[in-house]
Amino acid sequence: MSFSWALLALGGFLSSVYAAPAELTRRLDNGLAITPPMGWNSYNHYSCSPNQSVIHSNAQALVDLGLKDRGYSFATVDCGWTLPNRTANGSLTWNPARFPDGYFALGDFIHSLGLGFGVYSDAGIQMCMTGEPAQVGGLFHEKQDAETFASWGADLLKYDDCYSEAATGYPNTDYAPVVSPSGRYANMTAALASLSRPIVFQICDWGVDFPSAWAPALGNTWRITNDIIPAYRTIPRILNQAAPQTDFAGPGRWLDLDMLEVGNNIFTIPEEQTHFSLWAILKSPLVIGAALKDTYTSISQSSLDILLNENVIGYNQDSLGVAASFKRRWTEEGYEVWSGPLSGGRTVVALINLEDSARELTLNFPDVGVQKAASVKDIWNGVTSTNTLTSYTAAVQAHGTILLELGGTTAAGTYSASDATTSGQTTTFTKIYGSTTSNNYSLTIHFSSAIEGTSTIQINSTPYTLPAGSSTFTAPLSISEANNNTLTITSSTTPSSLTISEPPSTFYPSTSFSLSGSSSRTSCSAGLCTPVGSKIGYLTPTGSASLNLTSPSTSLAGPKFVNIYFCNNDIALSTSWTTGTNTRNMTVSVNGVTQRMEVPLSGRSSELFSPGLGWEDTGVFGVLVDGFKEGVNEVVVGNAYGNEGLVSYGADFVGLEVLW
Ligand SMILES: *[C@@H]1O[C@H](CO)[C@@H](O)[C@H](O)[C@H]1NC(C)=O
Ligand SMILES: *[C@@H]1O[C@H](CO)[C@@H](O)[C@H](O)[C@H]1NC(C)=O
Ligand SMILES: *[C@@H]1O[C@H](CO)[C@@H](O)[C@H](O)[C@H]1NC(C)=O
Ligand SMILES: *[C@@H]1O[C@H](CO)[C@@H](O)[C@H](O)[C@H]1NC(C)=O
Ligand SMILES: *[C@@H]1O[C@H](CO)[C@@H](O)[C@H](O)[C@H]1NC(C)=O
Ligand SMILES: *[C@@H]1O[C@H](CO)[C@@H](O)[C@H](O)[C@H]1NC(C)=O
Ligand SMILES: *[C@@H]1O[C@H](CO)[C@@H](O)[C@H](O)[C@H]1NC(C)=O
Ligand SMILES: *[C@@H]1O[C@H](CO)[C@@H](O)[C@H](O)[C@H]1NC(C)=O
Repeated sequence: MSFSWALLALGGFLSSVYAAPAELTRRLDNGLAITPPMGWNSYNHYSCSPNQSVIHSNAQALVDLGLKDRGYSFATVDCGWTLPNRTANGSLTWNPARFPDGYFALGDFIHSLGLGFGVYSDAGIQMCMTGEPAQVGGLFHEKQDAETFASWGADLLKYDDCYSEAATGYPNTDYAPVVSPSGRYANMTAALASLSRPIVFQICDWGVDFPSAWAPALGNTWRITNDIIPAYRTIPRILNQAAPQTDFAGPGRWLDLDMLEVGNNIFTIPEEQTHFSLWAILKSPLVIGAALKDTYTSISQSSLDILLNENVIGYNQDSLGVAASFKRRWTEEGYEVWSGPLSGGRTVVALINLEDSARELTLNFPDVGVQKAASVKDIWNGVTSTNTLTSYTAAVQAHGTILLELGGTTAAGTYSASDATTSGQTTTFTKIYGSTTSNNYSLTIHFSSAIEGTSTIQINSTPYTLPAGSSTFTAPLSISEANNNTLTITSSTTPSSLTISEPPSTFYPSTSFSLSGSSSRTSCSAGLCTPVGSKIGYLTPTGSASLNLTSPSTSLAGPKFVNIYFCNNDIALSTSWTTGTNTRNMTVSVNGVTQRMEVPLSGRSSELFSPGLGWEDTGVFGVLVDGFKEGVNEVVVGNAYGNEGLVSYGADFVGLEVLW
């Protein structure tokens, strides 16, 4: 069985890597956090040992360093502020050794700086308290605690999830609770809603039970992953978990990628730029976790410059409120692209260098739905270009990011004659983009007025007859995968523009593949493993799925663009401090030419309670695959190098689609 995949239009298939069901998601309607909250939090630098003096000096620094003026408007005291027990009347209170003037006075001080006061609690019987004495939590005291926080002038509540799982005797952390955390969070949502004081609600259950599915109705932000750690590998780990769920973000409801490590002297400056760029464009809260100022330390100017970058902050706070999404990854070449729309018809793009060395990288604009940009602002390189067609190349440091703002764009696949050169009757277009090698692109030539009488036209030397009265003409076009194809048109009437559409694609479901070795087929719950309903798992170095597929009769040999439909929900929760990556490998071999792909997560539903546990949610990974020839092509999907990696199993395989 094979069927053509009709939904795909040029640019469209790349701009929506994940097949998201169109659905309306409820959101907490408290009128807060219409753009992602920005501020400072004590945890990343001071762990669970904050005190009045460091809160004062850092809050003051938000003002003195110009951060408050750029929008960093909350100062939040994280874990370690309270006592083992409640007071006699049952209310929470501060630790007087750490906060001698108390929390009301602390709120006053923070308000006097023009900042919002952020407080911290926990939906368990004790708070998180790394290395500190026990401190009582908020579970079953939600109403009273919300009232206490309001009486202290709190403007934001970060609500953690330690010691919360009754069924297992309230351990510090339980990543697989038998009951969803959502009910405990809902109780605090209701408590906050009963107050007259507006309080931004930040849910922090580390992504357990896929909160993107339920947290938008309960909080303004929700953590989607386990903690950020002080090692650079944490950045790709968090991004690989964000990949399938970025579209759950929107005004008043934001995916929280965790607090920033910028300024903590853990990452290089290019790494800090990558971290800040991606957190900003994915619309995460931007919460500084560095010591801005205390007795011993102050933030470096180079890190401060990153946090102060007005363009990047502008992408985060953009009025459109759409999070950037994962577009493409070149695993073996070590780079990837994320992008999203901004207000004013602009597009923001991050091209991340995953390699350990500096180099030049090229963004092909069609990978983000664009053909030409009137302006390209290259943020970290500090240059702006005008009228850039098809691609942009720039230098990038090890683990750095080329962050681009594209303005005045035209849609991928459209080319204006004003970008071509004309000599006599011949117009030459350059920088024509091909995502795949094919002789079956569809070229439409637009003329500024209808042709009088029939005439002839040559497209790359092939003659055609133009019917009289036509103002457009469509013909098949042969181009290779590249961003620098040339197209010549010879005609008595000069074309005004071109439109080039992708060649047709064919989808090959995993059900038509043959199994070998360890691999096996699983049928999926109703409506999952779309569009096939089953998948092939247990892909290992000794188990794969194969199919001989025959190219269309006159197909061109060469690299083809292939969309791989996969499932991966191997979430790094307990492994997030060590080896966890949230990725799985897969290999695809065509006529013996093998390529490895590292795919992100695809799960868009609960890993604990949904049908298929998120392992039946399909993701789509677009990749250029070498080795195709005319006629019969032997395609093998597996995990050929599984013995060299962390996990010998590959991601599960649902099907693949070839742009012939
Ligand atoms: C507050 O915390 C800082 C940073 O950990 C520490 O150096 C300082 O001694 C603490 N101050 C008090 C009064 O505990
Ligand atoms: C305070 O809480 C701890 C548990 O964290 C408990 O063991 C202790 O008995 C409590 N003390 C009082 C005076 O209630
Ligand atoms: C509970 O006691 C604390 C002092 O221990 C006091 O500040 C607070 O106002 C009391 N709360 C109520 C609701 O009476
Ligand atoms: C929510 O609050 C209600 C009322 O206090 C309580 O009965 C219920 O157990 C709470 N739910 C959870 C999950 O904590
Ligand atoms: C692109 O093609 C043009 C015309 O064929 C050629 O002059 C130019 O060198 C090519 N550029 C690159 C980067 O390949
Ligand atoms: C593909 O064709 C080759 C050559 O005919 C054959 O050896 C191989 O078994 C075929 N593979 C599949 C999966 O049918
Ligand atoms: C080109 O694509 C069309 C469908 O759009 C198909 O009917 C035709 O056979 C294809 N031609 C070749 C040469 O592959
Ligand atoms: C994927 O493959 C690479 C290269 O072999 C390896 O370093 C990595 O550990 C693999 N990832 C997993 C999750 O196994």
